Amino acid sequence: MSEIERAPRHVLIVGASSGIGLALAQKLSQAAHVSAMARRTDRLAEIAHMGITPVACDVSQLDSIPALVDEVVAVHGKLDALIYCAGKQLIKPMRITKIDEIEEIVRVNLTAAVVFAKLFASAKIANSNAAFCAISSIAGHRPEPAIIPYSVSKAGLDALVKGLARECGPKRAFAIAPGWLDTEMTQSYPQIYNAGFQEELARKSPAGLANIDSVVDMVEYLLSPKASHITGMSIAVDGGASL
Ligand SMILES: NC(=O)c1ccc[n+]([C@@H]2O[C@H](COP(=O)([O-])OP(=O)(O)OC[C@H]3O[C@@H](n4cnc5c(N)ncnc54)[C@H](OP(=O)(O)O)[C@@H]3O)[C@@H](O)[C@H]2O)c1
Repeated sequence: MSEIERAPRHVLIVGASSGIGLALAQKLSQAAHVSAMARRTDRLAEIAHMGITPVACDVSQLDSIPALVDEVVAVHGKLDALIYCAGKQLIKPMRITKIDEIEEIVRVNLTAAVVFAKLFASAKIANSNAAFCAISSIAGHRPEPAIIPYSVSKAGLDALVKGLARECGPKRAFAIAPGWLDTEMTQSYPQIYNAGFQEELARKSPAGLANIDSVVDMVEYLLSPKASHITGMSIAVDGGASL
């Protein structure tokens, strides 16, 4: 029996239709029931055969979140883990970034995560040994030019897990801070994240380029009983590129 089999039984993954969230849903569903939220229900339908429950959710509709979480808990039981992966990136200099764009980034990446965290704090929603995991970014530790609202939202997630860990123990909370990964989010900027960028990043990564599996492995470890005394941390998974 793997560690994960003895750990979470019901995992809610928010932002599970592609990239990191999808990979986590596929891996964690081998040993736990996964409820998977996102807007693209066609993508979620493709993983339903793995026993994963698809839930249509647009996290920017903040008021809709509590009823959706209540529903998955009523059907599949209290949460043992809640993983917040939903996120969007905008690469644009600050001087030309619109107020609507700032508001949308912060709402999807951070405000909705705080709403999920508020629900996670309730004894009716999450078991006393449950864990909250936010997919943050090294940009929250070291903001790069032209992604400042994104970086601000990720720094907010790091503060969120610290606060949750302190207020809600023995429930645990932690963030994973990946560096660049090849996902739809970064594929939408092919002119920036081109071959030259990737070569330079590999050169700057003393432990080698991290990938989606590096993140999945770290989340799996942090959810396991082996990590039962790790809480409040934001852990960079970037091959050392941000050092
Ligand atoms: N890729 C990287 O280099 C990198 C690096 C550091 C951190 N991250 C973080 O990793 C997380 C996952 O991103 P990814 O790289 O895996 O990219 P991705 O494939 O684009 O995944 C983004 C996920 O967020 C969901 N999402 C976006 N807006 C949403 C909304 N309004 N409501 C519900 N779900 C929404 C998307 O689902 P729908 O579109 O179906 O709603 C999708 O499942 C993000 O928080 C991102 O900031 C990524």
